[in-house]
Amino acid sequence: MSATALTASQPVRFALIGAGGMGGTHAANLIASPATDLAWVVDLDLERATAWAERSGGRATAEMDEALADPTVDAVLVALPTSVHRLATERAAAAGKHVFCEKPIARTVADAEAMTAACARAGVVFQVGHVVRFYPEYARIKQVLDAGTLGQVAMVRTQRRSAPVMERSPWFADLEKNGGLIIDLMIHDLDTLRWYFGDAERLYAHGLSYTEWQQSRDVAMASVRFRNGVIAHLDASWAHGGFYTAIEVAGEKGLLSHNSRKSATLTFESSENTSEFHNIAPRQTYLRPSTANPPMRELQHFVAAIRTGTPVMTDGAEATRTLALAQAVLDSMRTGRPIAFAQDAAAATVS
Ligand SMILES: NC(=O)c1ccc[n+]([C@@H]2O[C@H](COP(=O)([O-])OP(=O)(O)OC[C@H]3O[C@@H](n4cnc5c(N)ncnc54)[C@H](O)[C@@H]3O)[C@@H](O)[C@H]2O)c1
Repeated sequence: MSATALTASQPVRFALIGAGGMGGTHAANLIASPATDLAWVVDLDLERATAWAERSGGRATAEMDEALADPTVDAVLVALPTSVHRLATERAAAAGKHVFCEKPIARTVADAEAMTAACARAGVVFQVGHVVRFYPEYARIKQVLDAGTLGQVAMVRTQRRSAPVMERSPWFADLEKNGGLIIDLMIHDLDTLRWYFGDAERLYAHGLSYTEWQQSRDVAMASVRFRNGVIAHLDASWAHGGFYTAIEVAGEKGLLSHNSRKSATLTFESSENTSEFHNIAPRQTYLRPSTANPPMRELQHFVAAIRTGTPVMTDGAEATRTLALAQAVLDSMRTGRPIAFAQDAAAATVS
């Protein structure tokens, strides 16, 4: 079955599958945007689904096939535990619906490739929710790097710290089925760094993922060397009190830094008297517009792809490459060994 044709004035009609934490964020955006209608909310927890369906004027069900059988549904938003991303994406594609699937695309590269192939076969748009690319600060760093005005980049540090999510949803702690801290959280920064610097070639990771603490708390660090010579240190945590992210990019002409806890969200420091720095002057700051809503921006990107055929930035192939890198980080942690990473083959060898 192929995707339905839309007229320019019609909102895109969505079925949301999964109405938990992230599903709730998407539900609010689907209701708020004039470009979308939330027609169905699907969740095994029918009360959750019903609460959102009542707000949207849509219908609730615990059975995804009921929503997928509705011919007026154009697109499906999958916000389920990672282990069921493949099932929902393949069923949605088979029903001819465009698919937005939350990150990580899947638990395994094989699943990710099958999902990408299923959407390609069905001729539907497939976007994966690597939302960090839609955060203004991270997007601004990309612009500055692409323009070359930071000079040669040498070192990058990232931090992504959150409360132990397994306390609210125990599936996050199931390393085998869902990948734990690396595949779920550090993957955000791995994807962003791939976006900035291209493919990685060597990495080493250390953390609690394969220890007795992992069921209640997890922290990890990874060192990744990219083919272009950049070395990054990433840290991720499900052991902190609240959520925040940070990144520093050190290049020969200065230092870019972002910390989500500071009101000055992106700062450029330089010893050089650079007159123009893409509106980030030396020792000046870039403040995030108060209206920025990154999940809404990624939703708009998806809707534009459905309406106009514009390419999706985080499509299945791109998300699969990011997953392969995250899997290598997890493998390094499991084996305690550095990994030489062959991205092209989506394979890695322990060295
Ligand atoms: N982009 C981000 O910043 C971000 C943030 C949080 C979570 N996520 C991702 O979103 C996805 C969901 O995470 P979450 O935090 O919302 O999880 P959650 O546990 O809060 O919600 C998952 C929901 O799915 C429902 N569910 C489970 N299996 C189902 C099935 N077979 N059919 C129908 N409903 C089912 C559960 O009842 C629950 O309501 C994950 O892939 C996660 O990695 C992304």
